[in-house]
Amino acid sequence: MSTTADRPILMFDSGIGGLSVLREARVLMPGRRFIYVADDAAFPYGAWEEPALAGHILELFGKLFDRYDPEISVVACNTASTLVIDALREVFPGRPFVGTVPAIKPAAERTCSGLVSVLATPGTVKRQYTRDLIAQWASKCHVRLVGSDRLAGLAEIYMRDGFVDEDAVRAEITPCFVEQEGRRTDIVVLACTHYPFLVNRMRKTAPWPVDWLDPAEAIARRALSLLDSGPPEEGEIEFRNGSDIAVFTSGKSDFATRRMMQGFGLSLA
Ligand code: DGL
Repeated sequence: MSTTADRPILMFDSGIGGLSVLREARVLMPGRRFIYVADDAAFPYGAWEEPALAGHILELFGKLFDRYDPEISVVACNTASTLVIDALREVFPGRPFVGTVPAIKPAAERTCSGLVSVLATPGTVKRQYTRDLIAQWASKCHVRLVGSDRLAGLAEIYMRDGFVDEDAVRAEITPCFVEQEGRRTDIVVLACTHYPFLVNRMRKTAPWPVDWLDPAEAIARRALSLLDSGPPEEGEIEFRNGSDIAVFTSGKSDFATRRMMQGFGLSLA
């Protein structure tokens, strides 16, 4: 393992969702080098059986560590984190991880109506980890878990092609909106890192306004707090243009993907 402070930060997701965390991380850690890994060969994670997905991710991280030796790894994916974050820490002791799990605690603290919805992949909705978060932090709220089969895929299309079927977005978010004894859902937790990219469409198609909770900045802050080197001093920030890369496990390098990655300051490996 290299000891230089120049080791990269690895950002990991099944697809483009982790870019919602990367964009916050780059603001907070402008001098750091990032490697963005999209396991698109296995997308969508939301549809996988748990044991197979866990084995797949653990094996992939073994290879990523051999290749990139990151200082820290951000699992910018709720579907992966709620399944394997504990196993990753066990299998790779000494490798710091930041996980991304549904922001149920802040939602429970912030809601006025007591009606909160968690919008996630079918995988995240099924996880014991998610149920435990609700039992631990939101026992006084009414929490509706909404598993969406389509939203992550719609976000992928939107980010590559620039348009999305708004009726499909409306249909996927509608179950989040609950009315009960004169109260209404006032917070929807975006518990999949793909969803912040569709939030404007969600706002537009929602039956009433809610607070859409995106945890990306909090995750980036957590990552910053784990860096040995700490935040850069004034004047210490190096101009790192072009050194951040994106790795797609499918080997995909079509024009739309390249253009999208360039928009996030990444070149394809
Ligand atoms: N971005 C991922 C998440 O945060 C999952 C998308 C998928 O692969 O289904 O859950």
